[in-house]
Amino acid sequence: MKNYSIAAIPADGIGPEVISAGIDVLKALEKRLGTLRFSFQTFEWGSDYYKAHGVMMPEDGLAQLKAFDAIYFGAVGAPDVPDHITLWGLRLPICQGFDQYANVRPTRILPGIESPLRHAGPGALDWVIVRENSEGEYSGNGGRAHRGLPEEVGTEVAIFTRVGVTRIMRYAFRLAQSRPRKLLTVVTKSNAQRHGMVMWDEIAAEVAAEFPDVSWDKILVDAMTVRMTLHPQSLDTIVATNLHADILSDLAGALAGSLGVAPTANIDPERRFPSMFEPIHGSAFDITGKGIANPVASFWTAAQMLEHLGEADAAALLLSAVDQVCAAGIKTPDVGGSATTRQVTDAVIHAILES
Ligand SMILES: NC(=O)c1ccc[n+]([C@@H]2O[C@H](COP(=O)([O-])OP(=O)(O)OC[C@H]3O[C@@H](n4cnc5c(N)ncnc54)[C@H](O)[C@@H]3O)[C@@H](O)[C@H]2O)c1
Repeated sequence: MKNYSIAAIPADGIGPEVISAGIDVLKALEKRLGTLRFSFQTFEWGSDYYKAHGVMMPEDGLAQLKAFDAIYFGAVGAPDVPDHITLWGLRLPICQGFDQYANVRPTRILPGIESPLRHAGPGALDWVIVRENSEGEYSGNGGRAHRGLPEEVGTEVAIFTRVGVTRIMRYAFRLAQSRPRKLLTVVTKSNAQRHGMVMWDEIAAEVAAEFPDVSWDKILVDAMTVRMTLHPQSLDTIVATNLHADILSDLAGALAGSLGVAPTANIDPERRFPSMFEPIHGSAFDITGKGIANPVASFWTAAQMLEHLGEADAAALLLSAVDQVCAAGIKTPDVGGSATTRQVTDAVIHAILES
């Protein structure tokens, strides 16, 4: 019996709804397999905590999380707290403090879910986007001067380091190498951004030499939106900067049917710290409390967590249960169904226990 300690941070909006659904599903896997056990500790950090304490998490938050095997995260964001406070107060300090530099975002069209792309059925789109998650445009470097005056200035400096770019390129090439098509697309903007992005391209070419069996190409981020929409089959593994991949992966989620199915893993590949698993979506104020949040992204990211923990069979079982339930048409309204979060969760639990 393997024991895994998981820190759950449901946080804001629909976060608590989809994380409690995910915990129920993981407990069903525990019951079905009998070879692993999870102990969950829930941390009530987020916007309510901020309103009570003036911070999104306590000062020793990272120290409290460090001993866990993984972090299972919901979403942050509240209508009455500025987004840069919620993001920089909780999610980003965890990603950066634990050097989770590889943000891995798989996308595929699940059976029974319709893509807005007319000709794309299941299998037409099967991508993994690797997002640089520690520097680039979200390095936090910059500042404001002369606030409120006509000469006010604000800078947001994108930082690209040789170490940071090399390690994410290696991660992406290695991932591409592990997938059947062995195909990597490097997204860039080196026509307009002639320093950091040119270095990004050069390092991509250097690292490519270490992976002669991986075919790779390079594309400008603007052209990439067109390629994702018109030629989705031409893509497999994709690597992009923090900002570019953030935007492209929302597009990927939408092309796969809904943001509600899109998962993400914030990985420390060197395993010095716990990695963090979360849905891509935010706190979705418009549907909070209605019981209709799609829990599939939180199930899929739970499968990513299982894979990271070395439980590939459990991950495959969970994903196949999700596929079965989607194929049977038990879906929330964002993907054209009428089921509630609870009904989808119960159906996935049933599929796991009956498998
Ligand atoms: N990682 C994060 O925690 C994260 C990510 C994105 C946005 N945010 C925050 O979330 C808040 C709302 O942002 P937003 O509206 O731009 O993005 P959002 O992802 O919360 O919602 C965008 C749209 O997608 C729908 N949607 C999202 N998840 C869904 C699900 N599981 N099931 C069904 N429908 C779903 C929402 O109803 C909404 O219409 C903001 O405060 C933002 O800063 C947080």
